[in-house]
Amino acid sequence: MKASRLVLLAVGAAALFAGAALAPRAWAHGDVQPQPVNTDGLAPLGEEWKEENPYRGDPKAIAIGASGYNQNCARCHGLEVISGGLAPDLRHLEKGKEGDEWFSQRVQGGAIINGMTKMPSFAGVISQEGLWAIRSYIESVHVDE
Ligand code: HEC
Repeated sequence: MKASRLVLLAVGAAALFAGAALAPRAWAHGDVQPQPVNTDGLAPLGEEWKEENPYRGDPKAIAIGASGYNQNCARCHGLEVISGGLAPDLRHLEKGKEGDEWFSQRVQGGAIINGMTKMPSFAGVISQEGLWAIRSYIESVHVDE
């Protein structure tokens, strides 16, 4: 094969590769689909987002949240909320209302840093009930830094 054709081939391959790398992706770590959380048995919360976790300390919410967490958050934040370093260790998330506020911002807005989706938004994907259940679980395993 002539050298000029080889060069063309290489350029073509590079363009393909760049195209694939630039394609918009909603998920930073592979195309894992978010899982809705079954919140049967928890008091419904309505449309408006609560400022504070309405289920704090509720054992049923904690159990539901554990499962919701493992299906949706563990692949980045670590199984049993013990981070392997890919994403912050949520055991250190502040307890109470302040932690609730930061939690709400991140689960609703996700984390887009320098145009890269480091964490997807879960708004409209997991219900408010499901997200507060996950927050209840995270707070139940809180450890001080
Ligand atoms: C694709 C990976 C990924 C998934 C899935 C993910 N997160 Fe995150 N999350 C991150 C990263 C990365 C950050 C740190 C962003 C930054 O640098 O501020 C973060 C930050 C957070 C924070 C703020 C922590 C802090 O100390 O600032 C909270 C709260 C949080 N995530 C909750 C969740 C919950 C709850 C879920 C599941 C419903 C979840 N995340 C799913 C990657 C992920």
